[in-house]
Formats: sequence, structure tokens, C-alpha cells
Amino acid sequence: MYVYLVVVLLACLPALLSASEPKSHQQQLQDYFLDKSPAIPLSSYANDNSPLDNSITLSGLPPYSQQAQQGKKLLSTPFSNGHNYSYCFRSNGLGIGSDYPYFDVLSGQVKTLAMDVNECREENGKSAYEYDHADMKSIVLYMMDTSRRNITNVIMPNDPRAEAVFNQGKTFFFSRRGQLDMACAHCHIDYANKSYGQQQIPPALGLPLRMPRYDSSNDTVTTLHERFNQCLGYTKAKPFPLQSEALRNLEFYLFYVNNTLPLNAPSVKQSIHE
Ligand code: HEC
Repeated sequence: MYVYLVVVLLACLPALLSASEPKSHQQQLQDYFLDKSPAIPLSSYANDNSPLDNSITLSGLPPYSQQAQQGKKLLSTPFSNGHNYSYCFRSNGLGIGSDYPYFDVLSGQVKTLAMDVNECREENGKSAYEYDHADMKSIVLYMMDTSRRNITNVIMPNDPRAEAVFNQGKTFFFSRRGQLDMACAHCHIDYANKSYGQQQIPPALGLPLRMPRYDSSNDTVTTLHERFNQCLGYTKAKPFPLQSEALRNLEFYLFYVNNTLPLNAPSVKQSIHE
């Protein structure tokens, strides 16, 4: 099955799949966009592509300030044992967004920020949040807000399991799925910057770096994994459980190929035309 996919995909995107080693693949993907648009520096791919940039509102606060304030408050609220989240994260959990995702050599899996928030809760006698819980979203949003402009730096440990999860994420990104039989790569590489309805398709570079996204039309926050599922919906493929292994490996792949680009989350979407 894997061989079949690679053969099919090689037919569409030869340059990108010729490198199987993660570092060379990352280089080829970044070079592809640099060759295509030499005037666009890599660092600007994470800029916001929403109509009204990530700007502050008239009040001088970002539109997601309520969620950010809530996240900040939750982060320092003591659990019943007197500890709080800052005991679980370095730097009290501030400015650490670029530590994620990472390959955890102990458990042999990709760990995400949301997962570590839940792990911290469980270590401190609290039950884990559902991954679409508003408080979970606020905590992650606040932590990412304190990490804006951090440089993406996903480490590939010298461990064949890490390369295997990278390859699983990569295969996910390049595999056709859904009734439309389309891969993420078709839209986010081949059709990057073209229109999809009223929206512009963002390129693979910068793709994960603006999430979570705040949508002012309904005052909600969309997480990276929710966005993956929305895009799967475009192709009429089934969604995956939030924080499932498949989506975490996809996240690992996407951040790794974006190494050296700055984070720019949370971002703001002003209106929905979907
Ligand atoms: C049919 C085209 C199409 C396909 C296929 C597609 N996407 Fe998207 N994707 C889009 C469009 C259009 C947007 C921008 C939506 C917006 O502005 O709200 C987007 C946005 C995103 C974003 C948010 C980035 C940002 O800042 O707006 C991520 C992450 C993403 N896609 C990942 C994926 C992944 C992973 C897949 C494969 C499972 C995928 N997409 C498949 C069209 C597509």
C-alpha cells in the first residue's frame, strides 16, 4: 500500500518526494517555495493571511483577549494540592510553544502541548480535558500567544521511531483521501495561493504556525487538529479524533518541514464563508 502511494505521488510531485530523509525533504520543500517565489522570504510565510491581519482592536487588545486572559488565569490557578501548571512546564509555561510538538523517546510517540496540559492535570489529581474543551483551548491559546515569533525548531532525535512517525505524517499529507480523492499536498503545495471558493489556499510553509485561530464571527477558537479535520471535510473524508496518533504525526511532519520559520499564533479570522 505504501509503495503504491509513493509511486502515485511521485507521479505528481517528483521533486518533493525524491528525498526520503527528513532533513533533505524539509530542504526540498522550503527550496520549492523559494524557487517559485524568490521575493518571498521564508520568515514571512507565517504571516497571517486573514483579511484583517492579526491586529489589535479599537480597545487596544487582540480580539481573542478574553480567551487569552482566561488561559493566563487558569495557568496560575492552584490545583487542590497547591501546585499549578507552571510546575509541569519550564519557564512557568511561558514562551514554550516552540518546544512542541516533540518526539518523546520514553513513550515512543509525538507529544503535543495539549497532551502535556492534560498530563499535568492528571499528575495533579485532575481529570483530563476533552481536547475541544474551552478551557483547554484557552490555555493553549495563551501559551502560544506568549510564544509568538519563537523559531520553529522540531528536533529529530537519532531514533528510527522518530523518523517513522515523520514518515507517517508525510504519507498522510501526500495521500489522496475522501470522495474528492485529494491530498493535503494537492491544495497546500500544488494549488498554494490559489482560490478555494472565497478563500485563498495557504502554502504548506507557515501552515501550522498560525494555529490556534480565533474566529470573531462566532467567538470561537479553532485548534490545529480541528483545522485538520475541517480540511479533511473539504475532501469529504472522515475526521480523526483530536490528538489521535495520526493527527499528532501529521503535526510533527508539518512543524518539522517548517523548521526555522517563526510562530505566529494565535491568528484571527474575521469572517467565515464556508
Ligand atoms: C481542497 C483544498 C484543501 C485541501 C485538500 C486541504 N486544505 Fe487545508 N486549507 C485549505 C484552505 C482554503 C484553507 C484556508 C481556510 C481559511 O482561510 O480559513 C486551509 C487551511 C489549512 C490550515 C490552517 C492554516 C491557516 O493559517 O489558515 C491547515 C493547518 C491546513 N489547512 C491543513 C491541511 C491538511 C493537514 C490537509 C490534509 C488533511 C489539508 N489542509 C487539506 C484548503 C485545503
